[in-house]
Amino acid sequence: MPVKIINSSQIKTKKNLNVIIYGAPGVGKTSFCASAPKPLIIDLEGGTLSIMDRNVDIVEAKTVFNVKEAIDYAVSNNYKTIVFDSLTRFSELLIESITSADKKTKPQVQHWGDLVSKIKKMIWELQGKDINTIFTCLEKESNNDDSLIKRPSLTGQLAQAIPAIVDVTGYLYVTQTGERLLSINPTDKWYAKHRTTLPNRIVEDIEPDFKVLSQRIFRDSNGGELTNHRQA
Ligand SMILES: Nc1ncnc2c1ncn2[C@@H]1O[C@H](COP(=O)(O)OP(=O)(O)O)[C@@H](O)[C@H]1O
Ligand SMILES: [Mg+2]
Repeated sequence: MPVKIINSSQIKTKKNLNVIIYGAPGVGKTSFCASAPKPLIIDLEGGTLSIMDRNVDIVEAKTVFNVKEAIDYAVSNNYKTIVFDSLTRFSELLIESITSADKKTKPQVQHWGDLVSKIKKMIWELQGKDINTIFTCLEKESNNDDSLIKRPSLTGQLAQAIPAIVDVTGYLYVTQTGERLLSINPTDKWYAKHRTTLPNRIVEDIEPDFKVLSQRIFRDSNGGELTNHRQA
């Protein structure tokens, strides 16, 4: 069969997002996740006290199997967002299971490769079902030339691969005046990114709310004017 060519204009307008939110403990990563449309929060670290009164569904997961069950449950019950809180813990469980399935005690290079493929496949499958995925992650500081730069704390090949797959890597931080902000632009102090249908444009740091983020990313494809949520 010949390769199938489609014109870029035929691509179905994408409306879901794959996001990593990273930052220090307590900045509000889990709270951000609770603002996403109909989320199922897969709680891998027992860090959901802060969203007790947010009326969102949480499922505790202690094993890779628990996570698989949670994903199946979310898909068959029309959840719009699946949250992995945190990717740090999820990737630890996944690499342990991949390594022990291969009867090794320490992860080998190919195990990291398997881990990346599994996570990619999972994101793509959920994207095909129109489900947003959000991964939370701690931050770490690493050397970038002569200065220190913050990036998601991920091990092995994940550190390169995951930010490359997602639409948004957002850095969540608290300003000196105590305001919580989400940055989706890289700076000389932190790594961040966002993918839109538009050429790279400057986006200001935003209120850590999924709807605000989604509006920034899709504003022109929705043809809508921006509304300022801070004044609302
Ligand atoms: N946007 C926000 N505005 C004010 N307080 C917030 C906000 N987001 C989180 N918090 C508060 O900060 C604390 C930590 O939030 P949490 O979401 O658990 O952080 P993290 O998941 O990054 O550790 C909680 O007490 C929570 O109520
Ligand atoms: Mg948390």
